Amino acid sequence: MRRIVVTGAAGFIGSHLCEALVAAGEQVIGVDSCITGRLGNLATIADHPRFRLIQKKVTHTRRALRDADAIIHLAAHVGPPHVVQYAHAVIRDHLADALVISDAVKHSDARLLVASSSEVYGGAIPPHVETDALMIGPTDAARSAYAASKVAVEHLMLRNHPERATVMRFFNVAGPRQRAEGGCVLPLWVAGALHAGHHRGTFLLHDAEHQRAFADVADVVRCIVALLDCEGSVGEVVNVGQPEPIRMGALAEMVADSVEAATGHRPEIRHAQRGTGSNGSAFMPIRYPDVTKLRALIGFVPPNRMRASVDAVVAEQCGQTMRPAEVA
Ligand SMILES: NC(=O)c1ccc[n+]([C@@H]2O[C@H](COP(=O)([O-])OP(=O)(O)OC[C@H]3O[C@@H](n4cnc5c(N)ncnc54)[C@H](O)[C@@H]3O)[C@@H](O)[C@H]2O)c1
Repeated sequence: MRRIVVTGAAGFIGSHLCEALVAAGEQVIGVDSCITGRLGNLATIADHPRFRLIQKKVTHTRRALRDADAIIHLAAHVGPPHVVQYAHAVIRDHLADALVISDAVKHSDARLLVASSSEVYGGAIPPHVETDALMIGPTDAARSAYAASKVAVEHLMLRNHPERATVMRFFNVAGPRQRAEGGCVLPLWVAGALHAGHHRGTFLLHDAEHQRAFADVADVVRCIVALLDCEGSVGEVVNVGQPEPIRMGALAEMVADSVEAATGHRPEIRHAQRGTGSNGSAFMPIRYPDVTKLRALIGFVPPNRMRASVDAVVAEQCGQTMRPAEVA
């Protein structure tokens, strides 16, 4: 039984990962400051004898980090609106957390998996390959802080710990527990269709022709668990995603179908013009991963099961209401 620290444990991917690791017989120490994470996400394992949550910032958990057999670092500021509003904290916290983790493992043999993002590919032409040159946007665009910090953390971990670190570049992930308030399209649309006050029953579609490739969170968790024990991934950057993109217009219809099936009411899809991007984001028309490396390393690639992911998000939101994000 290993002692595995998961940072960002109360978040979307982190909570599913903690459940999977506990189920696999590992001892799991979750770390989460709950800036955006929810304790409720950990309800199924909160009282499990092999799970413990340290509700602190990563930088305040040095001892747990030093004692770990493995660290899976997922904690981050996530979601375009959050990143734009707290751009100063994005750079500060992502680098501070990474430096503390990098320092803590210097005197141990701990394995290290670190979350990065497809955002580092910026405007590059897909399919995105790990060896592509990265394009992270201008410094005066607040949203670029996210990709810039992820690139810096990738360098930090791979230069300092090539004998233990793997960088996982996640593409779009879908499934229950993703926050609508984080600005991610699927929970946002479902929330609009089900809950959003006087606009109830509608959601906004900005870029019908844009395409993104979504992996179900359960399949992403399977990849993370496999990479943890994959010798070949040490010292490597690995795309973790589902390789078949879907048009956002088609995804909107899928959401409407799913909501109608669950509630008997079909939501209205409102087409909207996107502004020029006061948040400085580069709205890439199409993004999907090359997963050759992932397949070669772990023999598995997330399948395309978008409708199941959509149905799961609709089912989850049918049973709950939205709450505003809490930001420190
Ligand atoms: N979900 C996706 O589609 C996606 C895509 C690409 C990359 N990623 C990356 O995957 C990781 C997990 O993303 P997620 O979707 O689960 O996000 P999330 O926002 O649900 O989870 C992040 C968690 O980190 C916590 N946190 C933030 N800063 C912290 C700090 N300094 N100390 C302790 N806890 C802190 C938050 O409270 C939150 O619970 C992130 O690194 C993100 O950048 C996610």
